Amino acid sequence: MLGAVINLSYLIGALAFVLGLRRLSSPDTARRGNRLAAFGMGLAILATLLTPNAQGNGNIIWILGAIVLGGLIGWRAARKVEMTAMPQLVSIFNGFGGACAVVLAGLELERVASGMQQATTNEMVILLLTLFIGGVAFTGSILAYLKLDGKVWDEKITLPQHSLINGIFLLGLLAFMIFLCWQSASLTVVVLIIFTVLTLIYGLSFVAPIGGADMPVVISLLNSFTGLSAAAAGLIYNNQIMLVGGILVGASGTILTVLMCQAMNRSLMNVLIGGFSASGGGSKASTDGDQTVVEVGLADLAIQLYYCDKVMMVPGYGLAVAQAQKACKELDELLEANQVEVKYAIHPVAGRMPGHMNVLLAEVDIPYSKLLDLEEANAELKDTDVVIVVGANDVVNPSAEDDPGSSIYGMPVLQVWNAKQVIVLKRSMRPGYAGIQNPLFFHEKTKMLFGDAKDSLTKLVGEVKNQ
Ligand code: TAP
Repeated sequence: MLGAVINLSYLIGALAFVLGLRRLSSPDTARRGNRLAAFGMGLAILATLLTPNAQGNGNIIWILGAIVLGGLIGWRAARKVEMTAMPQLVSIFNGFGGACAVVLAGLELERVASGMQQATTNEMVILLLTLFIGGVAFTGSILAYLKLDGKVWDEKITLPQHSLINGIFLLGLLAFMIFLCWQSASLTVVVLIIFTVLTLIYGLSFVAPIGGADMPVVISLLNSFTGLSAAAAGLIYNNQIMLVGGILVGASGTILTVLMCQAMNRSLMNVLIGGFSASGGGSKASTDGDQTVVEVGLADLAIQLYYCDKVMMVPGYGLAVAQAQKACKELDELLEANQVEVKYAIHPVAGRMPGHMNVLLAEVDIPYSKLLDLEEANAELKDTDVVIVVGANDVVNPSAEDDPGSSIYGMPVLQVWNAKQVIVLKRSMRPGYAGIQNPLFFHEKTKMLFGDAKDSLTKLVGEVKNQ
C-alpha cells in the first residue's frame, strides 16, 4: 500500500514537472508553471521521506534539518536577488546541484573502494559519470558565478592553448574512468579522491577560457550537466522521480543552450573556446573615422513622439543596467493616453540572460500583448514612426545583415532602420557585448540621445508632459 502511494506521488510529481515546464514557455503562465513544478518537487520529497529507508538510523532529523536550512537560504537569496544578478543566482544554485551529485556518487564509490560493496561494470560507469558530470557542474558553476559577479578576471586564469589543454585533460579523465570501470578492484579511497579532485579541477579549467558575458550560455550548459548527473543518480538509487526530473533538466538546459547559440548565430564550440572576444572580426568601435552622429534634443523628440501614431521600444542590456523599465512604462502610458500605439520589440538574446527583457518589463506590469518577438517586430517596424532603442546595441546592428566580415554576421537582428526614425539612448559611442561598431548610429534615420537610459527617459517623460 505504502509503495503504491509513493509511486503515485512520484507520478503526480513528474506530471507537475512536465506541465510546469510547459507553462514556463510563456510569460503569462510562467508564475503558475513555477508553482506547479515546486508543488511537484514538494510532493516528491514527501514521498521520498515516506520510504522506510529514509526514516531509519535517525536520518529523518538530518534530512528535515537540511531541508529547513536549505529552504531558508534559498528563499532569502531568491527574495533578495536583483534581476540583473539572476544569472549568478542560477549559477550558484546549479553548482549546489552538481555538488549533491558528487556527494551521492562519492559515498557509493567509497563503499566500493573500502570493500563494503561490490559494483558491476554498469554500476561503476553510472557512479563515475555521476561524479564526473556533477563535479564539472559544481566547480564550473562556481567559477561562472565568480566571473559573472566580476570577482575573477578572465585573463588571469587562462593559459596559452587553454582549449587544447582542456581537450587533453578531458581525454585523460575519460581514460581514467574507463580504467576504473574495467578494474573496479583497483579503486581505493586514495584513487577515488584523486579522481574527484581532477574532476573538480577540470570543471574550473573548462569554464576558465570562456568570456564573462558568454556565461549565460555556459550556465545553461552546466545546468543540463547537473540534470544529467541527477538522472544518473536516479539510476543509482532506482528512483524514478530523480530520473525524470534529471532528464527534464538535462533536456531543457540543452535546448536552451542550443536556442541561445542559434539566436547569436554562433556554434557552441565558438562560445566554449572564447567566442567574440577571441574572434576580433568586424570593424572595431574605435574606428569611427569621419562618420558623424546626429544628436536629438529632448523637446524636439517629445513633440515628435507626442504627435506620431506608432512607437516601438527596443530594450537591451543598457535598460537592465540603468533599471529604466519604470521610466519606460511611464512614457508608454503618457503616449498611449494620447492615442499613440506603443509596442516593444524583444530580441531573444537582448540583455544577458534568456528572457531578461521580458522579466524587467513584467516587473513594471507592461502587458505581454505589447511584447513582440523578433519576427513579429520586424514585420511591424516598417509601419512604425519612431523606434526608441533603450540601451540595445548588437541586437540592432545592421552589420549582422550586410557585413560578411563582422563577427555577428548572420545573427538575426531587429531591423529598426526600416522604421521612419530611430532614436538611440546610450551613454557613449562604446560598443556592446560583441565589441564592434554599430553603423546604425551613423544611419541617416538615426539620432542619438546620450546619457543614462533612466535619466534620459525620465527627462523625456517630463518634456512629453509639457506638450
Ligand atoms: P549590448 O550589445 O551588450 O549593448 C548594450 C548597450 O547598452 C551598450 O552599447 C551600452 O552603451 C549601453 N548601456 C549600458 N549601460 C547603459 C545605461 N546605463 N544607459 C544607457 N545605455 C547603457 O546589448 P544588447 O543589444 O542587449 O545585446 C545583447 C548582447 O549580449 C548580444 O551580443 C548577445 O549575443 C549577448 N548575449 C546575450 C545573452 C542572452 S541569453 N541574452 C547571453 C550571452 C550573450 P554605453 O556604454 O555607451 O552606454
